[in-house]
Amino acid sequence: MTALEDFLRTRAGGAVLDIACGGGAFARRLVDGLASYRGVTGLDIVDKREEFLGNIEGDDVSFVASAIGDYLRGDHGFDTISISNALHHLEGVGDILRDLRRIANPNGVVIISEMYADDLTPPQQTQRDLHAMIARLHVGMGEYHRATYTRDEINGFLAGAGLGVLHAFDAPHDDAPVEKGTDGFAGRAGSVMADAYPDGAPPDVSAEYERLKARAIAIGVARPPQLTLVCAYR
Ligand SMILES: C[S@@+](CC[C@H](N)C(=O)[O-])C[C@H]1O[C@@H](n2cnc3c(N)ncnc32)[C@H](O)[C@@H]1O
Repeated sequence: MTALEDFLRTRAGGAVLDIACGGGAFARRLVDGLASYRGVTGLDIVDKREEFLGNIEGDDVSFVASAIGDYLRGDHGFDTISISNALHHLEGVGDILRDLRRIANPNGVVIISEMYADDLTPPQQTQRDLHAMIARLHVGMGEYHRATYTRDEINGFLAGAGLGVLHAFDAPHDDAPVEKGTDGFAGRAGSVMADAYPDGAPPDVSAEYERLKARAIAIGVARPPQLTLVCAYR
């Protein structure tokens, strides 16, 4: 197997839960790829019901607006649980991964897909630094958001939670197109900075942004590498 889709087409997905689903991009990938599924629930701390339900149609599709930590206290059961590009958004991620066991049915799988922070090309490093700046700005606005983890850190969370890896798909994206300039991700960091400091950013924050903008122009920005792991509780 070389890609998540190779696994999905072998899997009867049963009841599917996509945690921190956002607008449903990853849930869409699951429902398109799984051999079958019984129902799909998207969960996000922000109410993205409309976007999620617009993206995934069907009778057995639902959205829950909740923090995952609160949801885990309820009585639920899922066969396929996913978390995509959100481990670095979850405070207490180790505890959350451990406690997911409560809502995983026997033979359930947990699919983790996360961009990672090691072995980056120079343009990927620009992306990581801009993302880390956005994360710091979000923290300043009261939102939990961390810089991306290394593969060792991600694997460490899983091992600590009692999750064994059944299949690993590592996409380095080291040939991804390089975007040079400040229109794309660098511009997004600028917008977040403007939101965080409507009356003007402090000099150290502005200086960091100018440094990263110059890097985005000279070296460019590229899509980060992605680690996707299909796991089960031991
Ligand atoms: C980068 S987005 C990932 C969205 C989607 N999974 C994807 O791959 O496109 C991170 C999401 O995590 C959500 N989030 C952050 N903390 C959360 C929490 N404690 N419980 C549930 N969702 C959370 C955010 O609202 C956001 O939609």
